[in-house]
Amino acid sequence: MAQYSYTSLNNMASGGRGRRLLFLVAVPLFILGMYYTYHRNMYSKPVVNSPTVIKALYEPILHPVDAHNFTDEDGDVYQLSKAPRFRKKLGKKVLVLDIDSRPMDGPGQLMNEHLEWKGMRPLAAGMLSHYTYAMIHGYDYKLIRAPDYESRWGTWVKVPLMKEALKTHDYIVFMDSDVVVHYPHLPLEWLMNYWNMTEETLVMMAIDPDEPQNYDSRGNRYLNTGFIIAQSSKRTQKMYKDWANCPSNTRYKDCSRWKYEMFHEQSAFGNYIRYDYNRPDDIRVLPCAEANGCPEAINRGGCKGTFIRHYWIDKGQVSKALGDQVMQYFLPRLHQMYHDPASETIVDAKGFRLDGSELIELTPEEKEAHKNEHGKNQKDEGW
Ligand SMILES: *[C@@H]1O[C@H](CO)[C@@H](O)[C@H](O)[C@H]1NC(C)=O
Ligand SMILES: *[C@@H]1O[C@H](CO)[C@@H](O)[C@H](O)[C@H]1NC(C)=O
Repeated sequence: MAQYSYTSLNNMASGGRGRRLLFLVAVPLFILGMYYTYHRNMYSKPVVNSPTVIKALYEPILHPVDAHNFTDEDGDVYQLSKAPRFRKKLGKKVLVLDIDSRPMDGPGQLMNEHLEWKGMRPLAAGMLSHYTYAMIHGYDYKLIRAPDYESRWGTWVKVPLMKEALKTHDYIVFMDSDVVVHYPHLPLEWLMNYWNMTEETLVMMAIDPDEPQNYDSRGNRYLNTGFIIAQSSKRTQKMYKDWANCPSNTRYKDCSRWKYEMFHEQSAFGNYIRYDYNRPDDIRVLPCAEANGCPEAINRGGCKGTFIRHYWIDKGQVSKALGDQVMQYFLPRLHQMYHDPASETIVDAKGFRLDGSELIELTPEEKEAHKNEHGKNQKDEGW
């Protein structure tokens, strides 16, 4: 009699139903195999399906977009101050954006045909980290290979190109290549809730450390343009336009000075644009401790980069940060797997004593006596 209720795997070895199922499984497997072989020949290396890997690693632990709080790796709890504005994932409405006018095709760089962990340059690590963040949450990602301005310092190009990107996406996250999201499982929507982005907000940027070089002509600290969350609107377009045209000296007197002088577009924003776009919600100033610097820079005004790390202190840290982005999640899984009782990884030989080359089982009395000798002939973490 055919049996159409649940059949366990053990019962599927024989019979018509078993063979049919086998066939159903075999066909897709065969197609998969063909696909795999094809790609294997094409690239001469087996294809690892990276989106699947990323999904497996991060999806089970994604932080909810509308969560009331977030606990960081030090146990500090960050809470929303009001009901969240973003309650659903924004997906492709968000663009994670890299902009660069450099060729980046030398050894260890992203546009080179080969890239390996060893010898990877910070720029490549940063951009791959941004890409990973986008993949995890289903945001769009783009690297814009920008043309240079004829007569301005290279970093100026990000202003007009962010303006362009805001025509196709509702929200953009621009990061310099030495900026990384420290908790990639934490969605941007959560950060925008936490940092109070309203319908009226144009951009959010972190304040720079409290140091003399970071002050504008009116005695206020610069906002760092290495990390920007921008929200698309007519007013945002206008602001970016004014910013990009700042050095023409038409709307803002003497702005041309920042064409080549440090800190270029950042100084233009700090000295002019922010005073022109000064409605209460226009520009959200993010704390240096949360969105600027890194733990190594904590003595620079407490800028430890809790959520967003900016490695201006040492760009060499960026590849390590990319490693952290994977290892802080992979390690607990590896640890769990290691301890899985079913794996029988750990052999407990503590009930024995060593005598020359022999293992001899302890008597109950010996076991009791051994309890007091814990740590003898050992050194914690030492050799
Ligand atoms: C964080 O939020 C959850 C649910 O919203 C709550 O159960 C938990 O107590 C909160 N934790 C802290 C430390 O506030
Ligand atoms: C968000 O609003 C809360 C409550 O008003 C405030 O404490 C916090 O500083 C604001 N955050 C930002 C980044 O403006």
